[in-house]
Amino acid sequence: MEIETVGVVGAGQMGNGIAHVFALAGYGVLLTDISQESLDRGRQVIERNLDRQVSREKISAEDRDAALARIRTTLTLSDLGQTDLVIEAATERETVKTAIFEDLVPHLKPNTILTSNTSSISITRLASRTDRPEKFMGFHFMNPVPVMQLVELIRGIATDQETFDAMHRVVERLGKTAATAEDFPAFIVNRILMPMINEAVYTLYEGVGNVSSIDSAMKLGTNHPMGPLELADFIGLDTCLAIMNVLHDGLADTKYRPCPLLTKYVEAGWLGRKTKRGFYDYR
Ligand code: CAA
Repeated sequence: MEIETVGVVGAGQMGNGIAHVFALAGYGVLLTDISQESLDRGRQVIERNLDRQVSREKISAEDRDAALARIRTTLTLSDLGQTDLVIEAATERETVKTAIFEDLVPHLKPNTILTSNTSSISITRLASRTDRPEKFMGFHFMNPVPVMQLVELIRGIATDQETFDAMHRVVERLGKTAATAEDFPAFIVNRILMPMINEAVYTLYEGVGNVSSIDSAMKLGTNHPMGPLELADFIGLDTCLAIMNVLHDGLADTKYRPCPLLTKYVEAGWLGRKTKRGFYDYR
């Protein structure tokens, strides 16, 4: 089945990046969110990031204009029923995601592939809440989506080969590289990355280093583009905590215990860049 039109649920950090890369690759994109304000903000971010690519001569001004013209927005979730592929990129909370699937599924065409950009939740369990577990899979982008090369493809227990192959072709058309992960908590990238970030927070909590020494140690000592605390702020501390909880609950091993300091920051509403305060102060 040829995929030409794509529905993206959620215009936040991941959703607007996903809409951006699909539109640049020539797909028709229908982007939805629960408020006009979120849709407007998402579109502004896409415009800003496309402009940045034009100014760095990665794409032409014509490419940018054509991509923007391919992105439509709607507040009505059921409008996504016309599309060939739906990517759910809503908040990383299982109840939110399953509520979206329940509302959306009755409107989908029989052949539409349904995917989730979840960074940690069981694909098999999400799939079981839809009418098409064989056409459901994990499709996990990295942030910032227009820059990062990787997409994780995660098969649920029921995902069929045709769906997997179709999504592999989509990754190729986007000019990105796929890594296949089995459906275990947090898949590959976050299974490895989040315990590292959590350990960095423990290192801060125990006073082994301060924010600046921990980040410069990891940047200069291991050639990471960002230190782990800066990266946690970039990803969102609520997302980091949610993923640690999925690892802790799903693998039942104390080595995944979220650092109490991470929990405290999230309780304070210090979620990183998006709230202008996290391990760093962005105000
Ligand atoms: N859209 C388009 N282009 C962007 C962009 C965006 N949002 N953000 C940055 N860029 C481009 C810049 O234009 C620049 O392009 P050129 O190389 O062509 O000049 C390039 O990316 C580098 O950007 P900057 O020069 O502004 O800044 P930088 O060198 O500090 O790089 C960064 C910024 C790419 C974010 C880099 O710091 C980095 O790679 N950080 C680590 C990111 C990472 O690890 N992401 C994965 C997080 S884990 C995840 O996402 C999974 C999950 O589920 C939580």
